[in-house]
Amino acid sequence: MNSQPPPGPFADRWFLDPTVVFLNHGSFGATPKVVLEEQTRIQRRIESEPLQFFDHRYFDELDEARRELAGFLGARSEDLAFVANATTGVNTVLRSLSLEPGDELLVTNHEYNACRNALDAVAAGTGARVVVAPIPFPLAHEDQAVETILDRFSERTRLLLVDHVTSQTGMVLPVKRLVSEAGARGVDVLVDGAHAPGMLELDLDGLGAAFYTGNCHKWVCAPKGAGFLHIREDRHEMVRPLVISHGANAASTRRSRFHLEHDWTGTRDPSAWLRVPVAIREMGQMLEGGWPELRRHNRELVLAGRKLLCDALGIEPPCPDAMIGSLASIPLPDGEGRPLHDLFPFDALQEELYDDYRIEVPVIAWPAPPKRLIRISAQLYNRAEQYAYLGSVVRKLVS
Ligand SMILES: Cc1ncc(COP(=O)(O)O)c(C=O)c1O
Repeated sequence: MNSQPPPGPFADRWFLDPTVVFLNHGSFGATPKVVLEEQTRIQRRIESEPLQFFDHRYFDELDEARRELAGFLGARSEDLAFVANATTGVNTVLRSLSLEPGDELLVTNHEYNACRNALDAVAAGTGARVVVAPIPFPLAHEDQAVETILDRFSERTRLLLVDHVTSQTGMVLPVKRLVSEAGARGVDVLVDGAHAPGMLELDLDGLGAAFYTGNCHKWVCAPKGAGFLHIREDRHEMVRPLVISHGANAASTRRSRFHLEHDWTGTRDPSAWLRVPVAIREMGQMLEGGWPELRRHNRELVLAGRKLLCDALGIEPPCPDAMIGSLASIPLPDGEGRPLHDLFPFDALQEELYDDYRIEVPVIAWPAPPKRLIRISAQLYNRAEQYAYLGSVVRKLVS
């Protein structure tokens, strides 16, 4: 078996423990030192004059950060609001829907558990029905995903909730096709793009989804708590923040009601939002070719990692290369069916990999124990040898 390889050449830009083979950028992201230093700087500035900051500077600085983010996402600033994270974005939209008993909320079996819970809660409170489209995994072509979803539309479908990049299975879904097919049936789409910004080139305006939420703390590498919600203009009035605050009756005519309401939901630390432009700039400067090169680098690395792992396990890649961004999941032989941890369940193998080999990588019970997947991520601080090491360890442990 290989010995533990060092991290990649960019690893010293992060605080990650160099003794750990960290192959799980996907779960919570990891923020470069320079971005965190800039976050600390703004936190100190806020604390030096809290009144001056919140009364006089906050909205202008938020607008500036939003403009930068809008440019990065191919969106209009007017349609964009910061939220803490994608879970909040999904909840905000779902709780704004006015539903009737018998209405249908369409979702896939790959949906992230927290957001599926939000959908179930809204359905339970309104008498709506959750309809699940069972996309197979492994799958041979993205058409299988599209056809499976389209088959589940009915006259009662009110909303499609779909991930841009699926969490457990790491697949990039063809959301452009889905938005257009749903639109032709008069159905709004809520795209959960938790993983998409920084992993995929985005054009949210061109996509035209009624609702799109995403995180900047994953693949843009912004500080944690930097999510956004993009609402198409004709749906602004419909979507209210989860927290109603001053904006609901503020007299200002300088800002839209949409921004008045979503930009202030009570006192909080806004430093993660305000440092999104720094993350966009710093990550975009790490490679000479900027963001396109960074996305290409991470994609090629995760594809190489996936191949190393599949070869080690003697299996074929479970979905086409074209459906991979910088996350990839690979089925493992069945586990013991005993997920650990209540809130973020994971397979016992995940703990063994960390405790005995210092490899941090999620082993996910999917679709249900004892079936399980191992999911790798690729970021600049990784190198191919780390996946070869993982492959040799996993082969030993599961065979
Ligand atoms: C598809 C999807 N939605 C939502 C989330 C939740 O992100 P957050 O915890 O930042 O809200 C994740 C996290 O991995 C995800 O993969």
